[in-house]
Amino acid sequence: MAAESFKSYLTGRKKTVDSALQKFLPTSRTRPSTIHEAMRYSLFAGGKRLRPILTLAACEACGGKMERAMPAAAAVECIHTYSLIHDDLPCMDDDDFRRGQPTSHTKYGEGIAVLAGDALLTIAFEILAQTKPAPKCRYSVADFVLDLADASGSRKLIGGQVLDLEGEGQDVQLSPTQLRYIHESKTAALLTSSVRLGGMAANATPMKLQALTDFGYSVGLAFQIIDDILDVTQSSEQLGKSAGKDVATDKSTYPAMFGLEKSRKEATRLTRKALKAVGVFGENGERLEQIAHYLLDRDY
Ligand code: IPE
Ligand code: IPE
Ligand code: MG
Ligand code: MG
Ligand code: MG
Repeated sequence: MAAESFKSYLTGRKKTVDSALQKFLPTSRTRPSTIHEAMRYSLFAGGKRLRPILTLAACEACGGKMERAMPAAAAVECIHTYSLIHDDLPCMDDDDFRRGQPTSHTKYGEGIAVLAGDALLTIAFEILAQTKPAPKCRYSVADFVLDLADASGSRKLIGGQVLDLEGEGQDVQLSPTQLRYIHESKTAALLTSSVRLGGMAANATPMKLQALTDFGYSVGLAFQIIDDILDVTQSSEQLGKSAGKDVATDKSTYPAMFGLEKSRKEATRLTRKALKAVGVFGENGERLEQIAHYLLDRDY
């Protein structure tokens, strides 16, 4: 592997992902311009691009060229950004600050924000359908579409958001099992699909795809625990989104249930599990390992 530092690797990948998104998204002048402006506003407001970077890294860990995974990488970022726009709506988490900017509904009004989310969700599949698997690849384009649809649908991402919403401000705290189920669904499912799609673009063997699935699951759970911790420990400026919201709205979170120290330990344990899962890739899995460490140690 090139001796490129991890930091410049991340910056480079973020740029690669951004230019793919620029190419896949209609220009802001495309009619009706309001919706295309709103889609681009949230998509390019910032964001760490962790999911698409994981897609590209998983593809490379399986020996594939990252270009094959580019539609999948762009698609997972569109799904993620749509989920954030809707997550911030007044009827959901009611947030006015995201990726360091006013949220979509604050800037464009609720109607356009709902539609910008809908449009990003739809275009994700339009982009993903442009995947060109290598000749003799064991995965068809339909397999890619199914994987992402399953992760984003009512049994996973949306289902998790439903339970998150229903669990808010309850007198009776959720059980640890219920909380884990919410994290699995609303967050880990999309992270898992992000790495799986990268592996599939590289024609990963079923054994390698399973390793990526295990990695994505553990990293995904750790990711939401860290998100919940940061909500307590960091400022809104640092996060680029409103901090302290989970306590204010009485959300069931790991820190609320177990305290900060135990939550941190659990995220560390899950990260170790993820690292073990990608051990099968040997040196090729080094970037995935670095990303897992970074996700645990991030401060926004
Ligand atoms: C925030 O995700 C929402 C969660 C699933 C916890 P990110 O922390 O990846 O948000 P961006 O993409 O960097 O804005
Ligand atoms: C968001 O979880 C999960 C999804 C958007 C699917 P949060 O509500 O904790 O995310 P933030 O903290 O607003 O980014
Ligand atoms: Mg939420
Ligand atoms: Mg939220
Ligand atoms: Mg949060």
